[in-house]
Amino acid sequence: MEITVEVNGSSYTRSVEPRLLLVHFLRDELGLTGTHWGCDTSNCGTCVVWLDDVPVKSCTVLAVMADGHSVRTVEGLEGADGLDPVQQGFMACHGLQCGFCTPGMLMTARWLIDHNPAPSEADIREAISGQLCRCTGYENIVRSVRWAAEHEAGLRERTVEDAGTEVQA
Ligand code: FES
Ligand code: FES
Repeated sequence: MEITVEVNGSSYTRSVEPRLLLVHFLRDELGLTGTHWGCDTSNCGTCVVWLDDVPVKSCTVLAVMADGHSVRTVEGLEGADGLDPVQQGFMACHGLQCGFCTPGMLMTARWLIDHNPAPSEADIREAISGQLCRCTGYENIVRSVRWAAEHEAGLRERTVEDAGTEVQA
């Protein structure tokens, strides 16, 4: 089947088998290997991407189901201003060791902060509860997401202050 999927803002048309999973489409057809494939049981969550702005486990979605839809992967996190705050947070707070779970954690964290700019520890733990990390014990992942949320809140406050200064000037 021929499908067209928008991935990180670019449109890709490919001929695929109907049984091809989205995770394999991203990795093997598009070369976007940032999305990891960690299990055969839909348990690990390292394959999380956004499908139409909603996090999904891409090993549970057929590539043909993404036809005509948009996908965002970890490669789409970095913006013109540099690393996304969640990426910075994982660096600042050592939110990874081997890094295998990290792409999925980052995509979930980005979605969480977009929908809940000041998540509590419980909110963060619930958001990542479908994802496994075998290295960190989760403490530093939670810390990293909080760092990102607080960093973004600080940036927003500074922007408001700047706007106020400009108005006064
Ligand atoms: S690869 Fe493990 S949940 Fe998708
Ligand atoms: S950092 Fe190794 S699995 Fe999470």
